[in-house]
Amino acid sequence: MKRYHPIMVTLHWLLALMVIGALGFGLFVLHETPNSDPEKLVLLKMHMIAGLSILLLMLIRLVLRHTTARPPAADTGFPLLNKIVTPMHYLLYIAVIVMAGSGMATSKAAGLPEIVFGGSGAPLPKDFHHIAAHEVHETMALLLMLLIAAHIAAALYHQFIRKDGLFSRMWFGSRD
Ligand code: HEM
Ligand code: HEM
Repeated sequence: MKRYHPIMVTLHWLLALMVIGALGFGLFVLHETPNSDPEKLVLLKMHMIAGLSILLLMLIRLVLRHTTARPPAADTGFPLLNKIVTPMHYLLYIAVIVMAGSGMATSKAAGLPEIVFGGSGAPLPKDFHHIAAHEVHETMALLLMLLIAAHIAAALYHQFIRKDGLFSRMWFGSRD
């Protein structure tokens, strides 16, 4: 087995764009827009819909990871590193799921479902900083960025230093 299943490949690259996009949008757009800004409601709505879609697709992908054949773990060239490849991949799943979970908990605590989707007309809270789940959401964002940076560095190391064609495993083509 040379490659991941084409659905896994599609989900990997679609989710890579969506997760990196949600991180950028959260940090550079949401975080920078005060809750008093009338635009904030629509920005929150976009972020919540995107975040919930990410959660759904990530869960589908987790199921497919266990139900489709995939190539044996790549050799990093270091026996110790080889042992953490699979746990690191699971950490990426866990970090994204905790990210979405803490986002949902923040939104529930701030009454956002009614304000953003229910059209209740109630004002947004002054900010989200008093909500514990928001602290988790912010901290996980940093952790997730570090994990993704390490993941990209590892992929580049394989591709350009070990030259083992790792990218082709996460691309379309014959799988035998
Ligand atoms: C531009 C950014 C990215 C690049 C270049 C990249 C590259 C790759 C490559 C080449 C593989 C195959 C590794 C192997 O065969 O063992 C892979 C696997 C994987 N990637 Fe990425 N990736 C990126 C972004 C992400 C993001 C944002 C996530 C999740 C937050 C992610 C999660 C995973 C996971 C979990 C696997 C293991 C396969 C699986 O269980 O789904 N990747 N990545
Ligand atoms: C994996 C998916 C998600 C990612 C990557 C993500 C990322 C982010 C980031 C980076 C921020 C800015 C943090 C900061 O204030 O410094 C943020 C804020 C926020 N996110 Fe998410 N998020 C995700 C899912 C969700 C979901 C599913 C919800 C709710 C249903 C949600 C609700 C919120 C709320 C209410 C804020 C606070 C906005 C503000 O500070 O003004 N997020 N998110």
